[in-house]
Amino acid sequence: MKIGILSSGGDCPGINATIRGVGKTAIMHYHMEVIGIHNGFSGILQKDFQVLDEQSLSGILNLGGTILGTSREKSFRKLIIPDDTHSSVIKQKYAELGLDCIVCIGGNGTQKTSVMLSDIGLNVIGIPKTIDNDVWGTDITFGFDTAVNIATEAIDRLHSTANAHKRVMVVEVMGHHAGWIALYAGMAGGADVILLPELGFDIDKINSAITDRAHRGKPYSIVVVAEGLQTVAGEKHPANYIARKIEKETGIETRETVLGYIQRGGNPSPFDRNLATRLGGHASELIAQQNFGRMVSIKGDRVEAAPLAEIAGKLKLVPPTHDLIIQGERMGISFGK
Ligand code: F6P
Repeated sequence: MKIGILSSGGDCPGINATIRGVGKTAIMHYHMEVIGIHNGFSGILQKDFQVLDEQSLSGILNLGGTILGTSREKSFRKLIIPDDTHSSVIKQKYAELGLDCIVCIGGNGTQKTSVMLSDIGLNVIGIPKTIDNDVWGTDITFGFDTAVNIATEAIDRLHSTANAHKRVMVVEVMGHHAGWIALYAGMAGGADVILLPELGFDIDKINSAITDRAHRGKPYSIVVVAEGLQTVAGEKHPANYIARKIEKETGIETRETVLGYIQRGGNPSPFDRNLATRLGGHASELIAQQNFGRMVSIKGDRVEAAPLAEIAGKLKLVPPTHDLIIQGERMGISFGK
């Protein structure tokens, strides 16, 4: 068999470990031919690829980014119309590349495109990736653990400077529409207030949590804000809005930090490397079994494979009854509501 691997959407730590997991298993265990398609789905149309062999798959386990490049361009999806000439172009390129399957490593958008390719008759396997941890059908995505580590370290560092100046520090973390990074890094970093898009917020509750702390002799506060938090004014960076409001209404000096892309860059954590390796290996196993149209996923400690059609288009948000929220509330952490 001959398979193609591509990465699409925003990058995250662990993509290279996945490419290695798929590729080495396919080549060494199943004796398949493997190519790497460049820059996401557009590489199929341009037939822009490289042959992957044992040598090119070596030394990439701990490397951030993706050796294949990635892109967020959505125009490709418009071409996938059943029975349309455009989709026959895609099918033709797939045939010209001599592929028996395409492995699509990506987040929600990628899984949506993957199911469309599957619907027009291509053999596709999806592998979920994103720091946001918001892909439906899997307990966890690789990239998330690394991002939580980075964000937690940043929050740890903010404690001493906040304490020195007796300030409120508002730190914004990524997560798109979901609050997974804010919840996990906020709790691990000992934040005093954690704001998630799933819960919304009441600014008066945030302010009283901060002033109560001041009255209890706590000289500073750390507020973690998920980037997807919606403000009335619809700000792009909600941390800015929250920080302005806190300073104005409590009178306590307040600073903000937007962590941004450092959460996505650099080496994957050991957990993410192993998760990526397992998902990659299982993807090759599915291909060998000709069990296509599925996304590999992790459930508990088991790797499973769910039909792409069941997963694509759904978002996995933080449930308001998440145990970390319940335990946090019991310990006096404010979730701004
Ligand atoms: O999906 C991952 C993510 O890092 C989100 O957390 C963030 O909103 C988004 O990508 C930003 O990515 P880009 O600027 O590449 O579109």
